[in-house]
Amino acid sequence: MSIAYVPLDILTTLPNEDDVINFSKTYGQTMGKCWLNTVVYSSIPLNIWEDRDKFNYILDNNIDLGHDPEYFYNFDKIFPEIAGIIEQLPYKKIKYACLFQQIKEVAPHNDETRYIENASSNPYKNLKRINIFLTKHHYKSFYMYGNGTKQHISIPKTRSVFAFNDEEYEHGADWAGEDKCLLVTNGELDNDIHQKLVEQSIEKFNNEVLYYE
Ligand SMILES: [Fe+2]
Repeated sequence: MSIAYVPLDILTTLPNEDDVINFSKTYGQTMGKCWLNTVVYSSIPLNIWEDRDKFNYILDNNIDLGHDPEYFYNFDKIFPEIAGIIEQLPYKKIKYACLFQQIKEVAPHNDETRYIENASSNPYKNLKRINIFLTKHHYKSFYMYGNGTKQHISIPKTRSVFAFNDEEYEHGADWAGEDKCLLVTNGELDNDIHQKLVEQSIEKFNNEVLYYE
């Protein structure tokens, strides 16, 4: 048994939903068939995000360009509440935070390995995809699929951050309606802080944690 999903013990005060949705509609670029994507914070400069070949090369080879992460499109000024949550995430160095807006059903899949590997005894290091639901918390959309049945994730606005094992366990998102936005993050975990946060979260939200074979 290992953990596929855990809500994280981080309190969240989220901005007005319409403001987030309008921001996404203003700056979002279509990514694949299912998402509008806006990179809002990254250590990879925006001009590289616009060159997909270069971007994929940098991500696939874990190249660190040596830049400090920066916000784009004034995201931190417009949404200081979300920037405040990003600052609390258990990363040593964040690689990106992207605003995703779902535009179509997302079929079950496993994510590719695109993380900075670091040798660590952190038993929860596979819980390394950390997302924040920003709108439409009542939708039954995102689910994990590790035990052959869909288990929809329900998480309240007031603690809207979660971590899941996106490589080993299938997950997807039903189409439950328009304007579902989330923040997807990636980076090098601070393993000590991550482990402590996950342990504390398991203890607090044990009945919401998903364990799979
Ligand atoms: Fe995924």
